[in-house]
Amino acid sequence: MELLKQKITDLSSVNSAASLDVSYFLNELVDPALMQAIGADFAQHFAHETFDAFITVESSGIAPSIFASLSAQKPLIIIKKRDELLDDTVFAQQACYSFTKDVSYYLTVRREKIAGKRLILLDDFLAHGNVVLNVDQLLKQQQAELVATGIVISKDFQAGRQKMQDANMKLYCQAGIASLDPLTQEIVFTEQ
Ligand code: G4P
Repeated sequence: MELLKQKITDLSSVNSAASLDVSYFLNELVDPALMQAIGADFAQHFAHETFDAFITVESSGIAPSIFASLSAQKPLIIIKKRDELLDDTVFAQQACYSFTKDVSYYLTVRREKIAGKRLILLDDFLAHGNVVLNVDQLLKQQQAELVATGIVISKDFQAGRQKMQDANMKLYCQAGIASLDPLTQEIVFTEQ
């Protein structure tokens, strides 16, 4: 997605060889026109899929997802991150570890919201793939199906994209990054 790549080039900075600062348009200061364009692009890309709703994980995935939801005229389900186990007659939960943030939590959603549904996951970053793989497990618990995944920025030098390809999961990334150089601030995009 050219507009997104241009924003990344113009407004992001490279924190480290593994981390990109997107706080000027995606996760702190949020650019609503860009979020709308990202959402419309997701809706267009997934228009041929049969699905009930989009699903995302709080918090940075919510802004682009709400526009995708509006554009596709489908509801958006938000998975919360909780530190504790809850009543399992009401909630579906799945443990998840973030390598990027070195934190563990439970992906948590009310069973009734996802049971038996066909869902498309949207998220801001794909790094090691833990969120996607664990959302897939969470949905399977409730006989729901992860139809496809849409990612705003995929860091293709980390393991997530390969893991999803190995698992034959449908994936659409709006911008793929091949490498980050904190010294020169160079961001190399993946050929899509
Ligand atoms: P994975 O699912 O692919 O394994 O990714 P991982 O857990 O390692 O990291 C995901 C979390 O880290 C997400 O935040 C994501 O936004 C953030 N993240 C990953 N890479 C980058 C990066 O290069 N730059 C920035 N700014 N953030 C990155 P989260 O835990 O979902 O929290 P939230 O910010 O959405 O609330």
